[in-house]
Amino acid sequence: MQKPLNNKNVLLGICGSIAAYKSPDIVRRLQDLGAEVRVVLTAGGAEFVSERSLQTVSKNKVHDNLWDAEAELSMGHIELAKWADAIVIAPASANTIAKLCHGRANDLLTTLILATTAKILIAPAMNQQMYASMATQDNLKLLESRNMVIAKPEFGEQACGDIGEGRLAEPTSIALQAANLFQNTQLGGKKVMITLGATIEAIDPVRFISNHSSGKMGMALASACIEAGATVTLIIGSISVAVESRAINIFVTSADDMLEAVMSNIGEQDIFISCAAVADYRPVNIAQNKIKKDSETLSIELVRNPDILANVCQMKNKPICIGFAAETENLIKNAKNKLKNKGCDAIILNDVSNSKIGLKSDQNEVFFITKDNCEKINITSKIIIAKKLVEKISEVLI
Ligand SMILES: Cc1cc2nc3c(=O)[nH]c(=O)nc-3n(C[C@H](O)[C@H](O)[C@H](O)COP(=O)(O)O)c2cc1C
Repeated sequence: MQKPLNNKNVLLGICGSIAAYKSPDIVRRLQDLGAEVRVVLTAGGAEFVSERSLQTVSKNKVHDNLWDAEAELSMGHIELAKWADAIVIAPASANTIAKLCHGRANDLLTTLILATTAKILIAPAMNQQMYASMATQDNLKLLESRNMVIAKPEFGEQACGDIGEGRLAEPTSIALQAANLFQNTQLGGKKVMITLGATIEAIDPVRFISNHSSGKMGMALASACIEAGATVTLIIGSISVAVESRAINIFVTSADDMLEAVMSNIGEQDIFISCAAVADYRPVNIAQNKIKKDSETLSIELVRNPDILANVCQMKNKPICIGFAAETENLIKNAKNKLKNKGCDAIILNDVSNSKIGLKSDQNEVFFITKDNCEKINITSKIIIAKKLVEKISEVLI
């Protein structure tokens, strides 16, 4: 099942606050959402929670020392800073918050923050007066202006007996806010339909014609569109990848089924992405019973399948239409012809003659082609390709 923090590396920084005792639970809640979690503990944090507990729940070595000779043989602090997709500081002490404002780097956590391009979530936890102090309030405003997100503390009774604002936000809420870091509004409010996977064209009750499509590219696009704020409907053929549970999922078998599912749901859509590997032909007749191997040769007559993308492109109020072109030769020329002939708004071209990319692979390399634009996205994971494609779609087509 696809989760909001699947494939995300989250570094949890834990500071010297009494609320640090809740940090193993934060690790668990981040993992529940699919994150791979590593922990960085400040010296203050280590006074309140044991390294052993954090190592056990995170299933990773806890990092607590900038001067770790072994880790620093390979510049461990820079590696960690690059590894993280997000850094969550929870609990964040008043002291560390102040240090971040000044760009201090006198321990592992603050050094990492300077060295990272990851998204950053700060969850302050402290005595209500420390939190209300002008210094802390100004510091938090400054960090917000630098694109860090603040998980506001809660109001309530505190460990010191005071009542006020300063209690660490709930672990579940911190994990959800970490997931929200990856939401953007590039496709905010848009409805996107994506077809994906291979169609299956029956020959008889047990045999069929199909292809090697895994659905990985389409599923990565679904996640990227959802994370960009879209409501996504998936029309899913045969796939070998986990289904994106945040999408509306419609399962189909043949090209005819896929066409019907697309046309009955397309009315509301703003964007249509045809990513499925639809069989071009299907058997004219589907044998009622299993075909016996009586003869030396067997011919199966095939007939052209409907062109789903062309059908959508011909609609009167068509959505923005984006097709995939899997080519093996004359790549750009063939893709540009497809763009023109079908009347779609963009073609995403991939070279399926290269076995390292495309069909079953986790990697891809594509060209994003529109009437006036042809841009290459170099070989990388399908997840990153999908994010870049969403950026292109929102920049060029919306
Ligand atoms: C018992 C105790 C509880 C503390 N609780 C907090 C707290 O909840 N929030 C906070 O900002 N500082 C708290 N402090 C102070 C920090 O631990 C102290 O400022 C420390 O230098 C923070 O180090 P760090 O930011 O490197 O983790 C507490 C100190 C003690 C002794």
